[in-house]
Amino acid sequence: MTTNTPVLAIEGLTKHYGGVRALTDAQFQLMPGEHAAIVGDNGAGKSTFVRLITGVEQPNKGNIVLDGQSVEFDSPLDARDQGIETVYQNLALAEDLDVPANIFLGREITRLNLGPLSFLNHGEMRKQSVEMLKTTGVKIQDLSESMRGMSGGQRQCVAIARAAGFATKLIILDEPTAALGVQETARVEDIIRGLKQRGVPLIIISHNLRQVFDLVDRIWVFRQGRIICSRRTVETNPEEIVGLITGAIDPASLTSQEVVAC
Ligand SMILES: Nc1ncnc2c1ncn2[C@@H]1O[C@H](COP(=O)(O)OP(=O)(O)OP(=O)(O)O)[C@@H](O)[C@H]1O
Ligand SMILES: [Mg+2]
Repeated sequence: MTTNTPVLAIEGLTKHYGGVRALTDAQFQLMPGEHAAIVGDNGAGKSTFVRLITGVEQPNKGNIVLDGQSVEFDSPLDARDQGIETVYQNLALAEDLDVPANIFLGREITRLNLGPLSFLNHGEMRKQSVEMLKTTGVKIQDLSESMRGMSGGQRQCVAIARAAGFATKLIILDEPTAALGVQETARVEDIIRGLKQRGVPLIIISHNLRQVFDLVDRIWVFRQGRIICSRRTVETNPEEIVGLITGAIDPASLTSQEVVAC
């Protein structure tokens, strides 16, 4: 494995639901440390793609190659075990639990593991939570507060800190700021910039082109169930991306070598 080995390479990924061609022959690559955006109109296949690469659903065809190794995910836990952390739009946080309990939800640290008689190591989980939040640049005043009392932005920050704390390969964010206000959006974007500085590879699905152009290195355009091209952010502009999304621009008409026409 070299630094030229993609963290994630997707080859010919296909998913059909009966007669609905949700995703056909998708090719995609994410390089080490790279931040990529997935854009496209409603129904273009973005969520289907994410469900396939995070083990929520299985493809009809195609390969998922992680750090040079071909992998198959039977479940989201499988993908998580392989170092892929996902923050879904409907955050999987438990309302009545505090921050450390949410961060360690499903991977609790125990002091004494006697099967049903296990004792949780609250001190250690709290210590590691403080560390994770600090590394990710998330400021939460009172860790013992339950999620119920937190704003949408704070919740999103906790979810991203959790993903960043456990991801060994890459983080996927599905519309992380769709429901947030201006200030909260700015905070989440700062956290994403911090992940970039730390070299954590990331894929973000977003309809917000301002955000996409501010944050990522490369933009992948989905259209009618296909990945029609990818463009380096510095070599394109919002008008071109809108044209590709809507079909007004034919990817074959773009001459840059950076275009991957599928
Ligand atoms: N479980 C399913 N059964 C049947 N059709 C589905 C299923 N999931 C998705 N589809 C269809 O597959 C296509 C791609 O859907 P997908 O949800 O991936 O789009 P999307 O790009 O995420 O759109 P949006 O921006 O609206 O979230 C759509 O036509 C959708 O109706
Ligand atoms: Mg979707």
